[in-house]
Amino acid sequence: MAKYLVEKSNPLRGEIAASGSKNAVLPIMAASILATDVCKIMDIPKLRDVEVMCQLLESIGSKVTIEAEKEMISVLTEEIKEEEAPYELVKQMRASILIMGPLLARKKKAKIALPGGCAIGARPIDLHLKGFHALGAEIELGHGYVEATADKLVGANIYLDFPSVGATENIMMAAVLAEGTTVLENVAEEPEIVDLANFLNGMGAKIKGAGTDTIKIEGVSELHGVTHAVIPDRIETGTYMVAAAMTRGDVLIKNAIADHVKPVIAKLRECGVEISEEEGNIRVKADQNPIIATDIKTLPYPGFPTDMQSQFMTLLTSVEGTSIIIETVFENRYMHIGELNRMGADIKIEGRSAVVVGEKLLEGAQVTATDLRAGAALVLAGLVADGVTEISEIYHIERGYSDFIAKLTKLGAKIKRVEE
Ligand code: EPZ
Repeated sequence: MAKYLVEKSNPLRGEIAASGSKNAVLPIMAASILATDVCKIMDIPKLRDVEVMCQLLESIGSKVTIEAEKEMISVLTEEIKEEEAPYELVKQMRASILIMGPLLARKKKAKIALPGGCAIGARPIDLHLKGFHALGAEIELGHGYVEATADKLVGANIYLDFPSVGATENIMMAAVLAEGTTVLENVAEEPEIVDLANFLNGMGAKIKGAGTDTIKIEGVSELHGVTHAVIPDRIETGTYMVAAAMTRGDVLIKNAIADHVKPVIAKLRECGVEISEEEGNIRVKADQNPIIATDIKTLPYPGFPTDMQSQFMTLLTSVEGTSIIIETVFENRYMHIGELNRMGADIKIEGRSAVVVGEKLLEGAQVTATDLRAGAALVLAGLVADGVTEISEIYHIERGYSDFIAKLTKLGAKIKRVEE
């Protein structure tokens, strides 16, 4: 098993570029099976999850061509040979659920192993299934699988009980080939939703309102191939911004869309960090002012992203004052706290709130990554902790950060990946 060894590092300095977005490319790859001709997807991040999605597409009959040097993938699905997503793949990546909408739209049948819970929460899919049912699908659960079948899909008015990212994406992909118009209300407004809608509209779909709380989809009879570049990864961008602040460094992040990380910029500025935005670049300068505490409440976009909660919490362990963090999106997203406290932090959990006492000097220790973002937070903690921090279960981290070691090393971090 591989692990990371992280040493206390000097302030991070220099520039790196954000990669394509994991949470945009996965639904876009799934959506590519809606066309019978080739879809070319560019700015593909080098991630474990992308590899799993390629395997999933091949398992249903797609021909997937990866041009790594061009960061491009071509997907051709002339025929869908299999309408089932196997447990072996789903258990590796929950986002496999995103194949259900496109399969249902194209084949009127989709069967997938139930994703089950994960470290950060129970993560049910009831909203996805309610949406499919509203479009006319029969839903059957059994033996750890869920199956949706329909003679035809017909547009409907659907109100989501919670603006779920995955449910919004899946129902949107099911509705693009349905008869008539679908109106989706109280939907997720994340940039990844907009990127998926742009991809689908490029294939000939008729989607309006992506990025707002109401999306209108006029069904069409068929879709065609398209070439599309995915948006930069805003969570990767946010992670490097916090890394620069944590080490009191000065870092330029290229290929970054400031609008997509507005809440992170606002909170870092509240802490006293200097942020400047230039076209496509964000500069984080934290080598001047003292950094002070602030409070965070995670919310669906455009609120503060839950995927930045653990990284920001790590920053707040070393600032002046006490901060309160409230996690409202996932019910169990504090697994990193136990590990940070083992490194000398002082964080107490009270229901959905965490109280972070600042000005703690962290110490290197053996710690375990419990999920993707918790793992990234432990790497950041290691950059400022005395001694060496040894992080295991790093496969969680490699699911979502492209060239993590190379990029951090380029900024001056002392980190290496060792095979046990
Ligand atoms: C997406 O997950 C992201 N994953 C997550 O990023 C991110 O944390 C999350 O959105 C929220 O921003 C991808 O895009 C691949 P949700 P998703 O459906 O779609 C509840 C990362 O670190 N819910 O918006 O699964 C659910 O339990 C990952 O990159 C239902 O109750 O998130 C949760 O509490 C982690 N029923 C809340 O909604 C449903 O049918 C938000 O989930 C669906 C969701």
